[in-house]
Amino acid sequence: MAEPGRGLGGPPQNGKGRGNGNKGGGLRRRGGNGPHDIDHQAIQTLLQNRDQIQRKVENLPDGVRTLTETDNKELRPILIAHVEAMYDRLEEGRPIHMRDPLFRSLFAHAKEIKLIAKPTKKGLVVIETSENPKVVKLIQAHAQAVTLFLKNGPAEVRRNHPVPD
Ligand code: HEM
Repeated sequence: MAEPGRGLGGPPQNGKGRGNGNKGGGLRRRGGNGPHDIDHQAIQTLLQNRDQIQRKVENLPDGVRTLTETDNKELRPILIAHVEAMYDRLEEGRPIHMRDPLFRSLFAHAKEIKLIAKPTKKGLVVIETSENPKVVKLIQAHAQAVTLFLKNGPAEVRRNHPVPD
């Protein structure tokens, strides 16, 4: 099974554990030579269709719980694939968006972030936590940044986001 606290897929019956201990866990690997391009394409699609995506973020004492959903049946798998791809990046130390200090710091602390993602009918719930209070703030700031990406689109992606104190 997936490493506790890290994985996409939630309940065992979905068989979609993800984590260091679950390399054969049923999710497709994102192989190929151009994962960066693939990831950016997915991000562009999400940004272009952002008016069709709803999101709620709840801060937890040790992280966040986010619910991100869409009624668009073609967009849902892209959303889920994006989160899978970003989890792979955290796990494998393949950062993205390093120009932004918030993302740089997030990837620097990747090993201290626990992730659980569960599909919902229209999207997914993500619970991200950390035992390090500093990383908790990072996780919460990142969740707000994703919400701002949805609200403001590419202009927000071009912006740098500060690392919380
Ligand atoms: C409309 C655009 C986007 C949507 C809907 C979206 C959605 C999500 C969701 C649902 C998560 C899981 C964590 C959470 O819910 O807070 C996530 C994680 C992540 N996203 Fe995106 N995202 C978008 C744009 C971007 C952009 C522009 C980047 C960077 C170039 C990015 C990079 C990441 C990274 C690195 C993670 C994993 C880090 C973590 O979860 O702490 N995303 N995204």
